Amino acid sequence: MDIKKLPFEPMNEVHQKEVEILERLLEFIKNQKELVDVYNEFLEDVKRHFSFEEDLMQKYDFFAKIPHSMEHSRIMDELEEIKKYKLADYQFLQTYFEEYFIPWLINHIETMDTVTSGYFDMIGVTIDKTP
Ligand SMILES: [Fe+2]
Ligand SMILES: [Fe+2]
Repeated sequence: MDIKKLPFEPMNEVHQKEVEILERLLEFIKNQKELVDVYNEFLEDVKRHFSFEEDLMQKYDFFAKIPHSMEHSRIMDELEEIKKYKLADYQFLQTYFEEYFIPWLINHIETMDTVTSGYFDMIGVTIDKTP
């Protein structure tokens, strides 16, 4: 899975880690393995990813922090619903991730994250370490 590299490097590290966990989750789905642990790990990672960006947008008062954060929470709600109701439905999960979540993630990174990352880079944001 190819994702766009952004000018603000800490976001790339967060995205790369997410892609790794996502690819493992997809393997589990394809092989119809027990999903509870890997899905929880994925969910925790998405939370870390989103709050990493949201904390920085808040701290540096990024102009589009509200629509960007709302987009995160919309997806987060979906992922939480799936955890509750769909974790045994492998056919649904495969379709959801391949046809919806992955295209969404790629597009989100190419649009909202790109603009956000450009802003962080432009104002010279530095952080001690990525989560
Ligand atoms: Fe992101
Ligand atoms: Fe984002």
